[in-house]
Amino acid sequence: MPMARKLYIKTYGCQMNVYDSERMAEALEGYEQTETPDDADMILLNTCHIREKAAEKVYSELGRYKGLKAEKPDLKIGVAGCVAQAEGEEIMRRQPMVDLVVGPQSYHRLPELEAKARTGKKALDTEFPEEDKFERLKNRPKAKRGPTAFLTVQEGCDKFCAFCVVPYTRGAEVSRPVDQILTEARDLVERGVREITLLGQNVNAYHGAGTDGEWSLARLIWALNDVDGLERIRFTTSHPNDMTDDLYDAHGRCEKLMPYLHLPVQAGSDKILKRMNRSHTAESYLRCIEKLRAARPDILISGDFIVGFPEETEEDFQATLDLIREVRYGTAYSFKYSTRPGTPAAERDQVEESVKTDRLYRLQALLSEQQQEIQRAMVGKQVSVLFEREGRLPGQMVGKSEYLHAVHVADAGAAIGDLVRVEVIDSSTNSLAAKLV
Ligand code: SAH
Ligand code: SF4
Ligand code: F3S
Repeated sequence: MPMARKLYIKTYGCQMNVYDSERMAEALEGYEQTETPDDADMILLNTCHIREKAAEKVYSELGRYKGLKAEKPDLKIGVAGCVAQAEGEEIMRRQPMVDLVVGPQSYHRLPELEAKARTGKKALDTEFPEEDKFERLKNRPKAKRGPTAFLTVQEGCDKFCAFCVVPYTRGAEVSRPVDQILTEARDLVERGVREITLLGQNVNAYHGAGTDGEWSLARLIWALNDVDGLERIRFTTSHPNDMTDDLYDAHGRCEKLMPYLHLPVQAGSDKILKRMNRSHTAESYLRCIEKLRAARPDILISGDFIVGFPEETEEDFQATLDLIREVRYGTAYSFKYSTRPGTPAAERDQVEESVKTDRLYRLQALLSEQQQEIQRAMVGKQVSVLFEREGRLPGQMVGKSEYLHAVHVADAGAAIGDLVRVEVIDSSTNSLAAKLV
């Protein structure tokens, strides 16, 4: 057998990119993964275009490989993901060192593209092909894996929020068929997975072909609830407009569905929400939270926020702070609005940078206060932890609670993949400490 070539993949952006990187590594037969770019025969950057900073990182990272490429003429450099989709041809022009560009919807064609690049030609594919990418990638190796895994069930987005590139980089909303997902889930469980996070840009808009017509996300979750050996189910990211009654109900009754929901709102002012084309109001979002808590009182809510969207006034921003006070977030992600060329909001009156910085600071102060409060309230309570890795101290294990808090347990006497009951004894900035019960 010829010696395996080495593949170095660097992943940016969302969890869907993490999943895609795994699929790309599996698609490139004859390669084994390496942790450093120095001994790689192929470097693949799986990129993110969501904010300007995220996209810039690609060019600075490519710059770093100039020397390596000069030393090793056989080294192939590829750009995948959302920057590849948005700026693929420009990358090829601006960066002669790039041999291969592949978009998020065509990476099942990587083997052909790699072969072409090996002959010294430039290989570019940023199409949205008709054929089923996942079907083509089905024959995956059966390697053992860690206790948690991502599983993409839905891709793309038809919502066109005025700030967002995703509908352009990932294409239209598509759901994978139910049997494909269940087969992949059972396969993951056989390989050691205990917790699956279902992924989609609008995962709760899932409507895949099932045994009898289209299935909702809730129905898919109930089917996964019956998979032996699977202990935990999560899903992300959801849109407030796609919250359905059967999903609230699943949060109340489905034993393996974890009490955590990431439900981005972006802003609390109805004027701004309208200009964002979010097609929900602050009130309708708050009703979603109310229904969730009615179904599952202890559910932990997470969200995304954008400050300094064009035309956002101090009053609009105050409405966002008010909404945060009402919801009480266990954790959240917040960003300064970043102008994305080609999106509607890019053409509007922009908020000054210093104002954005100030608002982000105040928003994050409030969110972090809430996070700390909620974490401190966990002390003395029992949670279950799925251990994902060993801690830094001997005998210490680290895992996640059902609420997705990172939990450290000293003298755990347990292995990776074990699910144990613990009592929370302390809370620090980004994690909890617990002891066995
Ligand atoms: N599909 C998900 C997440 C999309 S991207 C959803 O609809 O919620 C993840 C987050 O990035 C978004 O929720 C938003 O908060 C942020 N984001 C997207 N575009 C942005 C931009 N132009 N500037 C700043 N933040 C942005
Ligand atoms: Fe982007 Fe909006 Fe679609 Fe989310 S719902 S991916 S923020 S366009
Ligand atoms: Fe980024 Fe693309 Fe995900 S733009 S956030 S990698 S869908």
